[in-house]
Amino acid sequence: MKKLYDLSGLFLEYLKDMYSAEKQQIEYLPKFLPKLENNYLKKLVEQNLNDTKNHEKRIETIFTLLKDGYHLREDLVMEELLGRIDSLLKYSDNCEILDASFISSMQNIVHYEIATYGTLRSLAATLNYKTDIIDLLKKSLEEEKWFDIELTKLARENINLKAKGFFLET
Ligand SMILES: [Fe+2]
Repeated sequence: MKKLYDLSGLFLEYLKDMYSAEKQQIEYLPKFLPKLENNYLKKLVEQNLNDTKNHEKRIETIFTLLKDGYHLREDLVMEELLGRIDSLLKYSDNCEILDASFISSMQNIVHYEIATYGTLRSLAATLNYKTDIIDLLKKSLEEEKWFDIELTKLARENINLKAKGFFLET
């Protein structure tokens, strides 16, 4: 990593991380989709995939507004988190555990994104960046939060109960 000389440099570092994080999800989430059992979970992930494509575009807009080129580099945190989903799905031997595993590891990803978008929004406000930039970050942050809440509800009210063997489908 290059030396950071100011707060705008720190902002760019986090922005590059999220750019790679969104790109990696766009590549990997479609591979996980056919393995999922629960229909609402599949719908949620499809919705999230569409949102993720918008998150990627918003970051590109921010790079443009900052008159900075797009930065392509691998975010190692996201690589690790996606790899974890991959191995959990491989070793979950029934579909209920598989969906529960997916939700828990997907929430690790979403929490990482919520934390980073929150940091980016705070830094953008401190740096007096245009409201356009702050609004773009806020939109992505709100969508990540919505996805997280929906995953929690689905896990608690349905998927985790099934995985525990206490829930009978009607
Ligand atoms: Fe995202």
